[in-house]
This record gives sequence, structure tokens and C-alpha cells, in this order.
Amino acid sequence: MNACIRAVIRACAHYNVTIYGIHRGFQGLIENDIRLMDSSSVANIIQLGGTILKTARSKDFMTFEGRQLAHKNLIQWGIEGLICIGGDGTYTGAMVFEQEFGLPSIGCPGTIDNDLSGTDSTIGYDTAINTAMDAIDKIRDTADAHNRVFFIEVMGRHSGHIALHAGIAGGAEGIFIPERKDEFEDIVKMYKKKMRKKEFSIFIVAEGDEEGYAYSIAKRFQNIYPETDCKVAVLGHIQRGGKPSANDRILASRLGAHAVKALIDGKRNMAVGVINNHINFAEFKDAIGNKKDIEENLWNLNTIITR
Ligand code: F6P
Repeated sequence: MNACIRAVIRACAHYNVTIYGIHRGFQGLIENDIRLMDSSSVANIIQLGGTILKTARSKDFMTFEGRQLAHKNLIQWGIEGLICIGGDGTYTGAMVFEQEFGLPSIGCPGTIDNDLSGTDSTIGYDTAINTAMDAIDKIRDTADAHNRVFFIEVMGRHSGHIALHAGIAGGAEGIFIPERKDEFEDIVKMYKKKMRKKEFSIFIVAEGDEEGYAYSIAKRFQNIYPETDCKVAVLGHIQRGGKPSANDRILASRLGAHAVKALIDGKRNMAVGVINNHINFAEFKDAIGNKKDIEENLWNLNTIITR
């Protein structure tokens, strides 16, 4: 997100637009936590994870009174448009705010889940996949040395993008994602056939999988194969931090600069994205509403290369 903030501020300087940084997102807007920014305030941040502006899940912004207060603050500062970085909650907030007070917004997709339409990738997703892949590689050493079966849980509340991509990159034999059913039966069948050929296994579970979390899936597996040494690793928030990948920095820089240009050109209520390497704009409602499915070809590929 820092690379995106940097690009927004620098693009504003380029177009001679005054820019303010709102701390802690919509909550900061309500609490008037707003500061004037310039090019130098975003020096030396492109390599940092997280966000220098900080973030918050704002319950107050879900109330009309909260949004009214936020609007009052914006008027006082003379702010005429918003660039919001975030996921479906952020886009929904910006959309409602526009409907009620007519303030234009452009959204930049910032979520590791990659579950927003209108862009091939969201900011943070590439870094998260690489972090998960590194962790899988490390866990593989123990799995191999001890002949263990590992269930590794990755993030993805409602989506399996991280699980599918990190799973393929990490050579996982089975992947559990909310978009597909019956993975458990599949891996049980597969494991039965392979048991004598191979002694350790790695399975990836998206936290939002309908079969349950990694612990419950591992327990079911262990009941069927009591002789296996079954372990669980939950990667958790390490996937949401750390040095951003080159791809994420470049994506975030493109999105931030194009968001500024779009607002200047009079676009509103839209999310900027990159599709097939071209800048794309999608209405907020479509970016949130059109569920981005996982790539079917990758799902099928994994079945071929792991059996
Ligand atoms: O929305 C992105 C996400 O990374 C989900 O995959 C995960 O479940 C959630 O955030 C964790 O959010 P929090 O840090 O608020 O618990």
C-alpha cells in the first residue's frame, strides 16, 4: 500500500493538485486525522510493508452520523475527491458516501485475497503468495525429513486465490478452496493410491474452505489414516506484511498514479485495476459484486501435475 500512497502523492505533485493523507481510513476521516502531504512525505517508503497512513475497520463509518461527521471534516479541509485503497468494505463505504454526499471517489484494490473484480491482481496479493510459498518450502524440509503429512492453512476468508497460487508454486499435492467442493474425498482417494510411492505430503487449505479450517481437515484425515504423522501449520498474518514484491510495487505505482488522473478527468465511483497489462476501470458495485472466480485452468493443471 505504501507504493500506492507514494504514487498518489507524487502524481498529485505532477498535476499540481493539493493532497492530504487521511490516517486510519474512514475512522480517521471521522476523527479529523488528516494531514497535508507532499512529495517528500513519501520518500523512502516504497520498500515498506503495511501503510504509513495506517488503517482501521471503522464501525462508526457504517452509521449515517459517522459519515456526516466525515463529510463535515472534508468540507472544512476543502477536499473535493477521495482515493481509497482497500477491499470490498472500502469500496462499499466510498460508494455509500458518494450516494449520500456526492463526493467522488476512485478506489485502488488493496487486499491480499485478490477477490475484487476489474483487476487481474490486487495490491499485496503477489507478496502474500510469495510469502506463503517461502513458508511452504521451509515446512517441506520437516515434512520430508520426518515423513509427515502437513496441512498448511493460508489466508482467504472467502476466496482461494492465495491457496491455489501458493499451492501450485509450493508443489502441494492437494488444495482446499471455498470455490470448489469435494477436495477431501479427492485427496483421500489420491493418498490411498500413492501411499507406498511417497511418504510425505503437503496440502494447502484456504481459511475460508467449506470443509473447515486446517485443524479439522487434518483431524478427519488422521482418523482415516491413523498411521500418518499429521501436522498443521497456520501461516496467518505473516502473509499480510513484509517487503513487497517487485510486481506489487509496480502494480501499486501504476494504480495510484492512474487513480489520480482518473479523478482529475472527472471519473467517480470506480475502481482502477490492471487487466492483461492494461489499465481498467470498473464501477465499485461491479468490482465488489462480480465474484472473481479462481482460474479453472490452474485448478485443472494442479490435478494433472500432482497425480
Ligand atoms: O481481507 C483480507 C484478509 O487477509 C483475510 O484473508 C483474512 O481472513 C482477514 O483479512 C484477516 O483480517 P484481520 O486481520 O482483521 O483478522
